Amino acid sequence: MSRSNILFILTGSVAAYKACEAISQLVQRGHRVRTVATPAALRFTGAATLEGLTGTPVLTDLFAPGAALEHINLTRWADAVIVCPATANTINRFAAGLADDLPGALFLAHDRAKPWLVAPAMNPAMWAHPATQASVEKLRGWGVRLLPVGEGRTACGETGEGRLAEPADIVAAVEAVLARPVRRLRVLVTSGGTTEPIDGVRVLANTSTGRTGAGLATYLTERGHDVVLLRARAAVAATGCHEETFFTFTELDAALTRLLGSGHFDAVIHAAAVGDFGIEAVLVGDRAGPPGAAKLESGFAPVALRLRPNPKLVDTLRARSRNPELRVVAFKLTNGADTAVARTAVENLFARSGADWVVHNDLAERGGGEDFPATIHQPEGGPGARCATRRELAAQLEQRLTAARQTFQPPTHSLHAALS
Ligand SMILES: Cc1cc2nc3c(=O)[nH]c(=O)nc-3n(C[C@H](O)[C@H](O)[C@H](O)COP(=O)(O)O)c2cc1C
Repeated sequence: MSRSNILFILTGSVAAYKACEAISQLVQRGHRVRTVATPAALRFTGAATLEGLTGTPVLTDLFAPGAALEHINLTRWADAVIVCPATANTINRFAAGLADDLPGALFLAHDRAKPWLVAPAMNPAMWAHPATQASVEKLRGWGVRLLPVGEGRTACGETGEGRLAEPADIVAAVEAVLARPVRRLRVLVTSGGTTEPIDGVRVLANTSTGRTGAGLATYLTERGHDVVLLRARAAVAATGCHEETFFTFTELDAALTRLLGSGHFDAVIHAAAVGDFGIEAVLVGDRAGPPGAAKLESGFAPVALRLRPNPKLVDTLRARSRNPELRVVAFKLTNGADTAVARTAVENLFARSGADWVVHNDLAERGGGEDFPATIHQPEGGPGARCATRRELAAQLEQRLTAARQTFQPPTHSLHAALS
């Protein structure tokens, strides 16, 4: 395989000797390897060994003279990062988001579109501890790839799970992630509510603000993904991504056909609140007319609206996409629904739309600010994954879409022609 840049971070475990063997193999296979070692790691292996194996100095200190920005530079340089051996201490520190040492700062600063691997090594009790297991789950949720731990006799003399993977497996895991193309997600996010004109000044609308869609679009853009936000004209804007706006159901419908027809997108996150009804006729007294541009004079009585149901756009998203592998995230809003009612609503939406995930949220649970209590469901059922905030929802969706992306061919079509 081609030469890659690999950042190898060692932490304080006896298993450091195995990491040296893995480094040696990676270098022999033509990769450029740079190392970071915690002070504890340097109690187990020498800086001279690491420098001798890689031909570059080992970095330890976040504040080392001349290397003050290495926590940014190294993550940009690296095609992949591996923490090996990874101690319980470092795993728990990553999960807490601490950045007061070089590994922690590198972890927070790294480009999450690139692979970050963790090869744990520790005593079986440390591995089994709920603190460690909770951290491991958290890291997985953030897209970190955990190498499996081995079982057997550990250096401390106890037997169980916690041994560092073997050097050949470590090398294979690094090369496997490098073999996958690092490609950003191309995501279409819809947000805000549709509006139907009654006359030249009055409208039938809903209360959607578009904050969820804008939050998701901003988050994914910050993570380096290629995002188009298709939002209602009055909805909250996103930061940094391409935006298009719609006003009516018909405009949203047409924009979805055009954008998905480009075949450019890996996924659509359909968070828009699409009006269930269009206006068929405006009845003034006993005279029915179409909704129009003129202003109805006040004082006329009585005025009534004849509504017709709109088709469900979410049901036809996949059919509109030139990329047959399009992933669809649908949203289901309920209001004070009990568990059984919510479950049925989610199941019906899966059955109709063929969505890959349904995000269910209930108006009655909503708090203020960035709170967004929601559950991500999958078609196979099960309890679903809970999120408390929009950012958490965005991170969980990113993780699922990124994992799904590994299994399908990237779309090759350009968006250019479809952008208005
Ligand atoms: C002889 C010895 C062996 C150790 N082996 C491990 C180990 O395999 N895994 C682990 O999580 N901690 C191990 N520790 C404890 C860590 O070195 C310690 O928690 C240290 O603070 C980790 O720092 P770091 O994560 O910054 O490298 C060991 C400590 C000693 C003294």
